[in-house]
Amino acid sequence: DRAAVVTIDGPGGAGKGTISRLVAERLGWHLLDSGALYRLTALAALRHGVALDDASDLARVAVELDVVFLAEGGEGRVLLEGQDVGGDIRTEQVGDAASRVAALPEVRTALLQRQQTFRQPPGLVADGRDMGTVVFQDAPLKIFLTASAEERAQRRHRQLREAGVDANLSSLLKEIQARDARDMQRSVAPLVPADDAVTLDTTRLTIPEVVERLMALLAREG
Ligand code: C5P
Repeated sequence: DRAAVVTIDGPGGAGKGTISRLVAERLGWHLLDSGALYRLTALAALRHGVALDDASDLARVAVELDVVFLAEGGEGRVLLEGQDVGGDIRTEQVGDAASRVAALPEVRTALLQRQQTFRQPPGLVADGRDMGTVVFQDAPLKIFLTASAEERAQRRHRQLREAGVDANLSSLLKEIQARDARDMQRSVAPLVPADDAVTLDTTRLTIPEVVERLMALLAREG
């Protein structure tokens, strides 16, 4: 009786966001960008002057988060307290703050139910770190999407250059490695593949190739 769900977990920069959006579009399913919820919690905390280590205040920020996801237009839009914050939540500063608040169990618990409400017919593509291990443990198809840290740094570098930002490749690599370490070593919901996840290394694959492999896995799932 529960709606279908496919979970796509993995480290930052592995292409989860793009792949999840494309697969959701192909299937006509809903999309959960759980990283955006952590980023929005961090941004709301920064804006309301809540300290990034105050677990109980941060949990309150997470529960009260006034957020609306709009599907319109390619990548969709996200409103925080009625204001479009699509650009603001993608900055390195907010990404870094997000990975700090995400290490707090109180914040993760506060966001758990909100994430589960995205599971609606005809189905959900859930993108994150713990979609298969915690939030949707009963998902029939769980994907763990990875790529080497060097490849992920190069992709990010290319993205930034295309956006006209002059970034340093070796410092991007260091940031990615630091974020990986924090996500993998935290005690709650660490970044690990679920026991029943299919690991897909995208280092040498194009985006369309990854989408095709996922569609084939889904077709096999029935
Ligand atoms: O995927 P994204 O980079 O937007 O996620 C931002 C941060 O939120 C990650 O670095 C990670 O620490 C955290 N996160 C998480 N669990 C998720 C999704 C994201 O802890 N399911």
